[in-house]
Order: sequence, then C-alpha cells, then structure tokens
Amino acid sequence: MDKSKLKTYFYFIDDQKISFSVLGNVSCGVDTVLIDNECDLVDGLFWEKDGYTVQPFLSEELLDSLRCFLWDYMSCELKNLGLDVPKEFRLKNYHAIPGLTQDIHLNLVKTMQYFLVNNHKELGFDLILEKISEIMGHQLTPESAFTPSVFHFRIVRPGSFDFNPPHKDVWIPRLKHAVNIYVPLCGNNKLSSLSLLPGSQWLSEKSISKSLPGAKINGINYTVPAVVQVNQREFKLIRPIVNQNEVLVFSPYMIHGGAANFGDETRVSLEMRFWKKS
Ligand SMILES: [Fe+2]
Repeated sequence: MDKSKLKTYFYFIDDQKISFSVLGNVSCGVDTVLIDNECDLVDGLFWEKDGYTVQPFLSEELLDSLRCFLWDYMSCELKNLGLDVPKEFRLKNYHAIPGLTQDIHLNLVKTMQYFLVNNHKELGFDLILEKISEIMGHQLTPESAFTPSVFHFRIVRPGSFDFNPPHKDVWIPRLKHAVNIYVPLCGNNKLSSLSLLPGSQWLSEKSISKSLPGAKINGINYTVPAVVQVNQREFKLIRPIVNQNEVLVFSPYMIHGGAANFGDETRVSLEMRFWKKS
C-alpha cells in the first residue's frame, strides 16, 4: 500500500488524547441518518435520546462465579499453550503472567470464541437474557437472522491495542437492529471502561469520516471501519461510569469503542448483542 496514505488522527476519551495511524483510504458516507430508516431497539425508551443507559444487573455472587469460571478456563487454555499461571494470579493480573506473548494472547482469544456459547448455562445466560429483556421492555433473543450467538468476553490489557477503533456496529449489516450490552468483570474504571459518543446515533453518515476496506489502523486490519473524524475534526468520547453489578446497554447505531486501557489492571468485560424476539 502507498505509504503516502499513512496519516495520523486523534480523538479524546474524556480529557485523554489518543492518536492512531491510518494507512489507506478514508471517506464520508452519504447524507442519511441510519436510524431514520432502520429498526433501533432503543427507539421509544426513556434513554432513547442518549442512546445508552446504565442499570442494576447481576448479583456479586453471580459475577464472582462468572469470573471464576472464566479464569479457570483461561488458566487451563494458557497451560495448553505452554504457560504456567502462578497460583496467586487472577483475571485482573492476566497481562502480567510471565511469558505471555502477543501470539499466546491471540491464540487464547481465538480459543475463547465459542467459550460462552458452549457454556452458556453454567454462565447464567438465562438470567442475563431475562434481565436485559426486562430493561428493554420486550423479549429478546441472542440470535440474529444471520449468525448464531454473537457474544463474547473482551480482554483489554493495559497499554495494549486489544480494543477495536471507534466504530458503529451497524456498519456490519448482520449487526443491525440489535442492542448491545457491556458488563464489566474486572479492571473496569474511569481509565479503562468502554467509551461512547453520545448522540452519534443521530448523525448523518455524511458527517462521519471512516476508513475504507483494506485500510490498516495502527497496522491492524479490522473488519469494521474506523471513525477517523466527525464533522471534519477530532471527536470526544465519554466513559460512562458502570459500577460492579451494573450493565451498560447501548444502541449499536452509536459510535463506540476505541477504549484504550490506561489503568494498571487487565479489563475484562462480557459483551453481547440481542435482537427482538419475533
Ligand atoms: Fe462494537
């Protein structure tokens, strides 16, 4: 690719400035507001204007069992990948495990792809579905018409690029018409939690400049386009405060992500998407 197309952009999360490089082409969309013509599940709810809400969620007991179940699985997989996890280590110290390389991390993430799907009963999935359905005011299902069970654990090590760049999920057609949740499990704080651009679901696509297919963000090829500018300038995301026992529910029509971890613990979250059950 032509190196002359390498350009540096930046955005803010609260007061922190984050730079990133884009190698490739960027472009604005057409003059349309996607939610005007598509089904946003947040439509009509009291938090529709913001596009997100933070609500009470799982008990500490259930969260603890989720963390333990996940950590047992990860420790076991890391052993299979040749690492001995010291006994005193917990999920939040994952990044500091001696010998953990980027390759081992990526292999672990790959093995975890279907972990939640295969263990949904043990992980209390039925209760999660019931609670989110209650928050949304109608029965939901985890399956879209196109792919089964789009949900997973996200692991973001401090100072890493383990996070997606800012984006809208709905730029991937199979992720339209859903609602997203973010459940912090550990390492979640004002320096690490998921970031959002409130009100971005109302923006015309024309005002959002994003990377085109083939572009690399910080040297990585992502499946979803990255937002590089809004209204031809840098933009400012916020990190809503999501305490333990709470869930962040938000519209996939919002710009979100880019959530660099400036804390000193590994941030682990449960991230799922739900669709309306017909
Ligand atoms: Fe996303």
